[in-house]
Amino acid sequence: MVSFIVFFYYRGKYIIVWANRILVFRLGEGKLIGVGVGPGDSELLTLKAVKIIKDVPVICAPRSSRNKPSRALSIIKDILASRDNYRLIEPVFPMTRDIKELERHWDEAAKLVADELEKGYDVAFVTLGDPSLYSTFSYLQERIEDLGFEVEMVPGVTSFTGCAASASMTLVEGDEILVVVPRVDERLKEIISYVDTCIIMKSPKSGSEIEDIIGDDPREKKIVSIQNCSMKDETIREGFMRNGNYLSTTIIKFRK
Ligand SMILES: C[S@@+](CC[C@H](N)C(=O)[O-])C[C@H]1O[C@@H](n2cnc3c(N)ncnc32)[C@H](O)[C@@H]1O
Repeated sequence: MVSFIVFFYYRGKYIIVWANRILVFRLGEGKLIGVGVGPGDSELLTLKAVKIIKDVPVICAPRSSRNKPSRALSIIKDILASRDNYRLIEPVFPMTRDIKELERHWDEAAKLVADELEKGYDVAFVTLGDPSLYSTFSYLQERIEDLGFEVEMVPGVTSFTGCAASASMTLVEGDEILVVVPRVDERLKEIISYVDTCIIMKSPKSGSEIEDIIGDDPREKKIVSIQNCSMKDETIREGFMRNGNYLSTTIIKFRK
């Protein structure tokens, strides 16, 4: 039987074709770690997040535009102050619904990160709250996994559990249903009667549509809005936050 080995390199991967087997591997590549940094107070960082932020060679901190500082980076700045041996990359993830524009930025960010991983450096992508919840991390994760790199996630305190703690509210108990709403639209109207507690993210843009939907529900309710949760300028108010900033969340709890 004729046996042969073919060895080649493709997009950062070493590929060996040997008889009827294909082996794909990378030599000394880094991994991407999505690190949740919580809602704002650096004391809400997990021990694991702190350990990674202190050790990792590359920090990737998303920002919404070139001239706005990264919120996630500001949460970890005191930890980074004691380090001078890391590289910082700050890709822009603009606040736009233009999918082409977004994809272009996600691709650029993935390229920046992949360049570091290929050199063998681990990259910690720091993200507000938890990386599994409405985080730009997910778009990066998808691309980096497609390129064949390892990806890990480190959970963080989500903004809405931080908000519940600030407002001293239990979100749900027993068989109650909790719903997290990133954008208020028709879908909420259809399910609202089944929901016991509702978290409205990005509350400023929700405007009056949410007030109408909630107002139409005959149940008694407690509505609390929290802005800049766990930060020095945290604001908590009963009802909706009309001119809140991006870091505003409204909790609506229906009474039985
Ligand atoms: C893109 S989502 C990010 C969610 C985040 N990954 C998490 O686990 O909470 C951004 C929304 O989270 C909420 N948020 C994040 N940080 C907050 C904070 N410190 N105070 C109040 N709301 C916050 C706001 O509703 C904001 O519009």
